[in-house]
Amino acid sequence: MIDMDAARAMLGRQAILLPDAVPSHPLLDGKTEIGRGEYSIVIDKGDGEHVYKIVSSPADYFLYTADDRPRGPHFPIVFADHGVIGRAQSGYPFHLIEMERLYPLAEGSPAAELSRRLIECYWSACAQWSRLGADMGRIALYHLTVEPMKVGDSLQEALRALSDFVEEYQVLPDILNANNLMMRADGTLVFSDPVFIA
Ligand SMILES: Nc1ncnc2c1ncn2[C@@H]1O[C@H](COP(=O)(O)OP(=O)(O)O)[C@@H](O)[C@H]1O
Ligand SMILES: [Mg+2]
Repeated sequence: MIDMDAARAMLGRQAILLPDAVPSHPLLDGKTEIGRGEYSIVIDKGDGEHVYKIVSSPADYFLYTADDRPRGPHFPIVFADHGVIGRAQSGYPFHLIEMERLYPLAEGSPAAELSRRLIECYWSACAQWSRLGADMGRIALYHLTVEPMKVGDSLQEALRALSDFVEEYQVLPDILNANNLMMRADGTLVFSDPVFIA
């Protein structure tokens, strides 16, 4: 079994939570916070279908809004870019993105099993390329796209799209974290937050 905390520390991804308060905004006032990570805050829109994601990482902003961003069944559906709504303590602007509501991987579900296999393959590729330091994750992801794995054609295609995006936008993969892999209500595995900027 992978020691996730140690593995993530090796990739410079210790668990840190964004310290900022939710910016005041007409779309957000009075709504409930349902998730928070190192760079983002997720607010329930209240209609059961959409969430507002307040993102401070430029990597996330590119991923959700670029014309050539990866699409398909394993990437989140984005409905609107509501613009800049403030600035994080980190100095980055807060962009407000309206996207589909996703769910934590249900224990024992096919999506959870698939993500477990993916994380294991990714981690063993990382171990193989660990001497590359900061480039390890990027190269490991590329390696997964050329070495057939037992994750199915659909996910393999999504990994290729993710790898292309990572190369094009000079960001780093962040898939060694079950929090960044979520599912749709129909059980599809979704890369909800698969990139970061070092
Ligand atoms: N589309 C979504 N629907 C519901 N909850 C979400 C969604 N995206 C993220 N979350 C929740 O919010 C938390 C932080 O989101 P994440 O995308 O990982 O942000 P960060 O960029 O800060 O790592 C996640 O761990 C997850 O629980
Ligand atoms: Mg995250």
